Amino acid sequence: MPKMQIQRIGVLTGGGDCPGLNAAIRAVVRRSLRHGWEVYGILEGFYGLMEGKVRNLTFDSVSGILPVGGTILGSSRINPLAQQEGIRKILENAEEMGLDGVIAIGGEGTLRIALALHKAGLPVVVVPKTIDNDVVGTDFTIGFDTAVHVAVEAIDRLTTTAESHNRVMLVEVMGRHAGWIATAAGIAGGAEAILVPEHAFKLSELVKLIEGRRLRGRRFSIVVVSEDAKVVLDMARLKGALRSPTRKDEYGEVKMGGIAELLASKLRKVIDSDVRTVVLGHVQRGGTPTAYDRVLATRLGVFGADLVQQQKFGTMAALQGNRLVSVPLTKTAGKVKKVDPEFYKISQVFQVP
Ligand code: F6P
Repeated sequence: MPKMQIQRIGVLTGGGDCPGLNAAIRAVVRRSLRHGWEVYGILEGFYGLMEGKVRNLTFDSVSGILPVGGTILGSSRINPLAQQEGIRKILENAEEMGLDGVIAIGGEGTLRIALALHKAGLPVVVVPKTIDNDVVGTDFTIGFDTAVHVAVEAIDRLTTTAESHNRVMLVEVMGRHAGWIATAAGIAGGAEAILVPEHAFKLSELVKLIEGRRLRGRRFSIVVVSEDAKVVLDMARLKGALRSPTRKDEYGEVKMGGIAELLASKLRKVIDSDVRTVVLGHVQRGGTPTAYDRVLATRLGVFGADLVQQQKFGTMAALQGNRLVSVPLTKTAGKVKKVDPEFYKISQVFQVP
C-alpha cells in the first residue's frame, strides 16, 4: 500500500515538565523542517490537542531554547481518556489541522494516552521524558540526568552542614514509584543509606548504620529517601510499615511527599542525634538541562521525527545501550521500569553497620 506523504506534524509536551524538553522540541522542529514539513506546536499537552490550541513553529522560533528549562509549549496532566468525547475531539482536531503525525514528548501518562490514541487512529510517536527514569524500553529518559545532578549538588551541600552540626539529614527526592533518582544521587553523593520503593528498608538497620558511624567517630549521616520509599518499622513500640502520605490531584493522579518527615519523627524516638529533613521537590525539575540531557533530548527528538518520516507510528524513540531504537507503545505503556536490583546492590556495599 503506498504510504501517504507527510506534510504537517504536531509536537506536544505532556505531563510533568523536566529539563531538556525544549532541547527535544528544537530537535523535532529542526529535523522536521529538514524533512520539508510544517510543524505545529500544540500548547499545554493533550489539552491543546482537544481544544485546538496550536502555534506554528519555525526554525527561528526554536532558536535559543536548547539550554532553557521548562517547555515553550506548556504542559498539563490533563487526560483525554478520562474526558467524555476526549478522543473524538482530538481525532477531529488533528484531522482539521491536517496533522499527518503527532510527536508526544512525555512519560508514563503520555505513553498510555498515546497508545489509546494510536489505537483510535491517530498517527503518533512518543519521545520519552521524565526525571523519574521509569519508562520501560529505554535506558534513560530526558531530564533524569539533570535531576540527579541537582540532587547530588544538594547532598554535597547538606553533607558539610550536617557534619558541622553532627546531624542526621534525611533528603527526600522525587521518583514516584521508582527509586532511580534516589539510587543514582545516593551513590554519587556517598549517602549512608538509600531508601527506595523497590527495597524494604528496616528501621532497625537504619539505626544500626547511623549508630555504627557515630561509634566510629562520624557523628553525621546522610540518608536519601525516595518519595515512595518502603520502610519497615521493626523496633519496640514502633511496628508496621511506613509509606508516603498520598493525595490525588485535580486529574486523579496520586501525589506523594512527606515520608522523610514521617521517618524523622520515628527516628527521633530511637536515636539521640538531631534529625533534620530536606524535601528537594520541584527544584529537581527546574532549570537548565545538563549537557547529557541536551544531547539525549536532541538525539531522541531527531530520531522521533525520523520515525514519523518512516511512518513507524505507535512507537517510542528509545535509547538502548548507546543505540537509538523504536519500541512499540504496546511494550511500554502502562508499565513501570523499577530500579535494577544489581544497581541498587552497589549502594549496599557502602552501607557499613
Ligand atoms: O513524574 C515526575 C514527577 O516529578 C514525580 O517525580 C513526582 O511524583 C510528580 O511528578 C510530581 O508531580 P506534580 O508536579 O504534578 O506535583
